[in-house]
Amino acid sequence: MKKNTRKTLDEFIIERQDHFQYSTGELSRLLNSILLAARVVSYKIRKAGLIDIIGSAGATNVQGEDQQKLDLYAHNVFVETLVNREIVCGIASEENDNFITIEGLDEAHNNKYVVLMDPLDGSSNIDVNVSVGTIFSVYRRISPVGTPVAMEDFLQPGIKQVAAGYILYGTSTMIVYTTGKGVNGFTLNQAIGSFYLSHPNMKCPEDGNVYSVNEGNYVHFPQGVKDYIKYCQEEKENRPYTSRYIGSLVSDCHRNLMRGGVYMYPSTFKTPKGKLRLLYECNPMAFITEQAGGYASNGRTRILEMVPTELHERTPFYCGSKNMVKKVEEFVAKSE
Ligand code: AHG
Ligand code: MN
Ligand code: MN
Ligand code: MN
Repeated sequence: MKKNTRKTLDEFIIERQDHFQYSTGELSRLLNSILLAARVVSYKIRKAGLIDIIGSAGATNVQGEDQQKLDLYAHNVFVETLVNREIVCGIASEENDNFITIEGLDEAHNNKYVVLMDPLDGSSNIDVNVSVGTIFSVYRRISPVGTPVAMEDFLQPGIKQVAAGYILYGTSTMIVYTTGKGVNGFTLNQAIGSFYLSHPNMKCPEDGNVYSVNEGNYVHFPQGVKDYIKYCQEEKENRPYTSRYIGSLVSDCHRNLMRGGVYMYPSTFKTPKGKLRLLYECNPMAFITEQAGGYASNGRTRILEMVPTELHERTPFYCGSKNMVKKVEEFVAKSE
């Protein structure tokens, strides 16, 4: 009888317990609570067509987006799971104007971590049964333990993340995360509700032949990005590249992480600072990608070194194979 060599994520977390920079067990419990919430959201998403969970929730979020029912459902599941486990001292979410403090739990002020998240990424794909995701980012607080969490705890540069990950609700449900010691992927066995190590020590190829961008915005792209897209389409060397754009950051970045490629969301007419949010989309995806050997830039500088000033600030975002992102930076620099 062949031994099932696949570790469960729970076993993996315990095994890696002492690898965490601050191995107090809290980070392990935090990751486990995210896992629990991921299983609950995954279960709901798998039934989306049959239950009243698709379509608009009839409200607008701080981003000016029409909130989808699943945006709010996922937000509530992750927030409630994290609050009930009394592990974090504060939470920031795409779906909440301000950060969330843990009301009525004074002892929560003694907790060391804050979580920032995009509870449901790729909302435009929900109603058409195309994959969506969840993105999370974890920092140690910098305000004094024992005091209420403060905005400075959330406005830290991405290099200070202690953990980051995404859940991909795709053909299978996967969680991919890092605690700064490489990247590992786990697949959910829906039948028994356990995540199993399916993609150990993930590496992003330094080169690739896929570029992901919403070319509908081409006319408004910066000249350097237009030049790079033309470069991708030239019949030279290993080009033209393939264009793949799923419209869900998690899905596009996961494919590029696995196979090589570059995801681009430049500034556009409607979003002059870029569409993607630095704190809970770009920083976690950048941390994961760099931990796998890739790179993420705002077109000029490394995403992880940007110093945030606002909770929901946006940035142009280029992420994936190191040499491809560096090539974008080259074209942007040349055009200035
Ligand atoms: P969200 O659904 O969390 O608001 O994020 C959507 C983002 C990202 O997932 C995706 O790559 C991008 O928006 C798609 O934007 P366009 O539809 O403008 O291309
Ligand atoms: Mn949104
Ligand atoms: Mn998103
Ligand atoms: Mn979202």
